[in-house]
Amino acid sequence: MAQEKPVSQFKQSPNNSHSSSKLNSPASPSFPTTRMRRNRTDGWVRDMVAENHLSTSDLIWPVFVIEGTNKTEQIKTMPGVERVTIDILVKRAAEARDMGIPAIAIFPALDGSCKTEYGEESYNPDNLVNRAIRAIKQDVPDIGVVADVALDPYTSHGHDGLIKDDKILNDESIEVLCKQALMQARAGVDVIAPSDMMDGRILHIRNILDQEGHEDVKIMSYAAKYASSFYGPFRDAVNSGNFLKGDKKTYQMNPANTDEALREVKLDINEGADMVMIKPGLPYLDVIYRVKQEFRMPTFAYNVSGEYAMIRQAADAGCLDYNKAIIEMLTSFKRAGADGILTYTSLDAAKIILD
Ligand code: PBG
Repeated sequence: MAQEKPVSQFKQSPNNSHSSSKLNSPASPSFPTTRMRRNRTDGWVRDMVAENHLSTSDLIWPVFVIEGTNKTEQIKTMPGVERVTIDILVKRAAEARDMGIPAIAIFPALDGSCKTEYGEESYNPDNLVNRAIRAIKQDVPDIGVVADVALDPYTSHGHDGLIKDDKILNDESIEVLCKQALMQARAGVDVIAPSDMMDGRILHIRNILDQEGHEDVKIMSYAAKYASSFYGPFRDAVNSGNFLKGDKKTYQMNPANTDEALREVKLDINEGADMVMIKPGLPYLDVIYRVKQEFRMPTFAYNVSGEYAMIRQAADAGCLDYNKAIIEMLTSFKRAGADGILTYTSLDAAKIILD
């Protein structure tokens, strides 16, 4: 490309056009003095001017646990994600910790025999989740353990709360959620993540934890959780989809709303949430942005199962490059203002970041 550059009208000093320009006035911020491509010429300069950086400490890894020993199961709708028994989960937690992933979030996949109308198994001190919490905290104490508080894995109707006459009961559900949270705290959980969307549950959970001396247990509230179709593969993964009667629109948010998300988040902060979460992630980046701008709280995004499935299956079909797509996707959450991301791509992304 030894071509001589055409000497053009661009060569004139930008200041010449301003008769009032002072000696020290900055260059006019326009072409040709300013060329945005100048900072994109090489990898090193692109890295140097990058505004957002993804690190392994941004990742929270959601995992699915099953009964038994030394067993893994594929999840059909989430290729590459497995349900695993506690012994294997402990090894994976150590692997995650070694890569600098700060926390894992445990979800139980239970068979129908544990599911009842009132979800009593949710507060069994020796249920699958509580045993998993104990096992991880014993063998890998330096990784944070997050546990969901909601009844959907435990109810025969697949809802996050109790039902009477086809109505999800708010205050009665809170009582059960509090018992569930307390048992998790006794098992040694670090972060309780209520995903049920009942009104007032953060306040009550905080109180019951504090009454028993669990004041260091943190609450990451699913503060703005939408009634989304992107949870489909998750319900398959935890075996609740087949059981779910109806939908969750009377407690999860309408995807059309954002002002309402700010009210939800504010209430949860006032009730004692230490961190807030927006869920799903990609279709709600605007909500993440607004929440972070408004409250400046530790703000997390849940890059949910349907978002994972879209990328994984598109990559498997040859439509895009999985590794590049997940890094771009995760960076978008940072750009929106998220302090961290719950993502099924955590291990894959960590490997790429550390490579
Ligand atoms: C249940 C819960 C859901 C998810 C996390 N906790 C599903 C739902 O509300 O139906 C979804 C996570 C995902 O899709 O990855 N309380």
